[in-house]
Amino acid sequence: MSDKFLKYSFQKKIHPDKLCEIINQVTDKIIELKINNASKEFILYSINELASNINEHAKSTSTSLKLHIDKGFFTILITDNGIGIKNTYLAKSIIPKDDIAAIEYALSGLSTKNQKERGYGLYSIRKITNHLEGKMIVESGKGRIISTKNTSTSETAKKRIKGVRVFVNNKIRNFDFYKLLS
Ligand SMILES: Nc1ncnc2c1ncn2[C@@H]1O[C@H](COP(=O)(O)OP(=O)(O)OP(=O)(O)O)[C@@H](O)[C@H]1O
Ligand SMILES: [Mg+2]
Repeated sequence: MSDKFLKYSFQKKIHPDKLCEIINQVTDKIIELKINNASKEFILYSINELASNINEHAKSTSTSLKLHIDKGFFTILITDNGIGIKNTYLAKSIIPKDDIAAIEYALSGLSTKNQKERGYGLYSIRKITNHLEGKMIVESGKGRIISTKNTSTSETAKKRIKGVRVFVNNKIRNFDFYKLLS
């Protein structure tokens, strides 16, 4: 089979107003790929959830998306220069003690959306990444949490980042995507 349908790379700085449009274009490309269906669903789910988070929470003026699918692995890196995770909780009178605690709240499903019991985007991406024995890194402010199947490591960065960066790296392989999502 031609390599054309097995790999795909995308890297762009994107204005938040254009994020939806770009995600739709990227989605069309990913749908064409001849890679395992569950992995394809998971890539599409992840970029859509992460882009929705930027639209719904970040208040950013600039974002970037990097996507690399090749040789049995995929990597997603999505960034924004918005208010950061901790500030979304502070705006709801929830007081995380620092950026790491705020990222922990977000990864464990505490949503700042109104009338919602639980946030599912980051929680589910981490759950599936752990199942696939991959790696997820969420950074915001000075906080960084690195999750793998058996470990969750938190670090305080020397340099504060503005907004949020989410990195996901996984093997492309078969699994029951909808079962894991439920
Ligand atoms: N890019 C971001 N910038 C600022 N805060 C964010 C960002 N992404 C997530 N958050 C914070 O993390 C919380 C959890 O995010 P998550 O995607 O898991 O759930 P949600 O967006 O609230 O709900 P759902 O994704 O289930 O519709 C959000 O409610 C928000 O407070
Ligand atoms: Mg979300």
